[in-house]
Amino acid sequence: MKSRLLGNTGVEVSEVGFGAWQIGADWGTEMPKELAISSLHAAVDAGINFIDTADVYGAGRSETIIGEFLKERDEAIHVATKMGRGSAEWTDGYDDIAKAAEDSCKRLGVDALDLVQLHCIPEEMLKAGKAFENLEKIKDLGLIKHYGASVETIDEALFCVRNSSASTLQVIFNIFRQRVISDLLQAASRNRVGIIARVPLASGLLSGKFTKDHNFAENDHRRFNCDGQLFNVGETFAGVPFEAGVDLASEVNSILEDQLPDASLAQKSLRWILDHEEVTTVIPGAKDPEQTRENATVSALDSLSTESHSRLNQLYKEKIDKQVRGRY
Ligand SMILES: NC(=O)c1ccc[n+]([C@@H]2O[C@H](COP(=O)([O-])OP(=O)(O)OC[C@H]3O[C@@H](n4cnc5c(N)ncnc54)[C@H](OP(=O)(O)O)[C@@H]3O)[C@@H](O)[C@H]2O)c1
Repeated sequence: MKSRLLGNTGVEVSEVGFGAWQIGADWGTEMPKELAISSLHAAVDAGINFIDTADVYGAGRSETIIGEFLKERDEAIHVATKMGRGSAEWTDGYDDIAKAAEDSCKRLGVDALDLVQLHCIPEEMLKAGKAFENLEKIKDLGLIKHYGASVETIDEALFCVRNSSASTLQVIFNIFRQRVISDLLQAASRNRVGIIARVPLASGLLSGKFTKDHNFAENDHRRFNCDGQLFNVGETFAGVPFEAGVDLASEVNSILEDQLPDASLAQKSLRWILDHEEVTTVIPGAKDPEQTRENATVSALDSLSTESHSRLNQLYKEKIDKQVRGRY
């Protein structure tokens, strides 16, 4: 597993990380704790040392399971969590953020959080700057080692790059969301801001495994938020309507047919992200150890050809960009 420097933190993290939303909730039937822990072991066994979670994933369940897991391993594992987002309200207040940091420390069983990311707080709140001031104060107290933000739009990301001391930015970045390449990557890299690529498989669409009649469980966000009914539609299928996404994934597959013959479309899609050197780490979510292992091996794969990149960019401009819904 290769590693990359995480923004200005001085910390090297694995270029494939582990997305831990699935361990919390919202992906159908609750993932049994044993399965979650065995996925985490599979990740670390495969060289992954970066885990992304949030205080709200399963109302603390994801952090609590990760905390239990950390006790079972001696390796240095960096856990990024998020805060600022409640089920119905957001906060940038000092007391709220300090309390959230203390609570996350307790659940994770650590004295200080490796990385705290503002969790897609509303744009006006983000741009008011109080949240970053408070994170800085809490960092001075020693509860947080580094901080950054998870954001919805490129404009918000650029605001953070230009107006904050954020070490990292978490953005939706995948073959279905390519504006990040032209509008963000270089600015972030110049300012030594690490890029964490989330929703890298467009919630699984970019594995190419779905047919249009696929029936997601009622409590899976790919059913209850497929058109943005509950939160930003971009977090589900990267904002692409499901049926259009199935067709587009098939076109992506045709373009990449002659690349990396032994790799799955999921692996090729993750490889596409890592081919952008400004990205620090890609954090696919996984439902089991097999997916985790498959995703981790992408670090060792060759890059896709320049021609494949340009064909995928052309496909994006001609057919995908206009399909993407939600704040972007
Ligand atoms: N606002 C935020 O800050 C925010 C929002 C969203 C996500 N995130 C973070 O980003 C992480 C990744 O995003 P995501 O989980 O939403 O989406 P994703 O990584 O694009 O998709 C994950 C899903 O893809 C499928 N999958 C994974 N590996 C596969 C493989 N090798 N082959 C076939 N299918 C595979 C699984 O679905 P099946 O169950 O269908 O197999 C899995 O649940 C999350 O876990 C979370 O840590 C943050």
